[in-house]
Amino acid sequence: DKDLGTDLAKVLIPEDRLRAKVGELAAQIDADYEGKDLLLVGVLKGAVMIMADLARELHAPASMDWMAVSSYGSGTKSSGVVRILKDLDTDILGRHVLIVEDIIDSGLTLSWLVSNLRMRDPASLEICALLRKPEAVKTEIDCRYLGFDIPNEFVVGYGLDYDEKYRNLPFVGTLAPHVYGGDGA
Ligand code: PRP
Ligand code: MN
Ligand code: MG
Repeated sequence: DKDLGTDLAKVLIPEDRLRAKVGELAAQIDADYEGKDLLLVGVLKGAVMIMADLARELHAPASMDWMAVSSYGSGTKSSGVVRILKDLDTDILGRHVLIVEDIIDSGLTLSWLVSNLRMRDPASLEICALLRKPEAVKTEIDCRYLGFDIPNEFVVGYGLDYDEKYRNLPFVGTLAPHVYGGDGA
């Protein structure tokens, strides 16, 4: 196991719970897309771990493509304006597309992405997200496959970063407030 060090407050979702949940989601997806040609669209970089694990749990063959997006400006995401850093290599016209995300926080990234991809006329468009925060209720995102609803805490690991760090943790943990300057640190 990786050393928790002093940066992490606690393990929120350990590896075995992640693995079990990803297996459940994969089974649902396999059933729903039986006989269909599925295209998984991972959102870089946070979705790398869930994408890799989910894809390996699927029994049916699936294609994989990636988008990298960034919310405009620095710091805040409140505008909901997103720009594409890397677009899909695939033309999704008439394809069955499943967006794979690590987390729905404010929901702005996914609501933008869904409307962007919908304009490309896929045969179907659904979302699989590992985590969802309470804020997300403000945006009406229809997440067909959800792993966990989590409290409004600063989470890292299993793809999720703070300042590009901690993505490689094999579990989802909460960050100690001193790391991001909270709690009077
Ligand atoms: C994070 C996360 C989601 C998004 C969720 O990505 O991976 O993609 O924010 O936030 P929202 O629901 O409030 O839009 P980020 O923009 O940090 O890029 P990253 O995946 O490269 O870390
Ligand atoms: Mn992301
Ligand atoms: Mg990030």
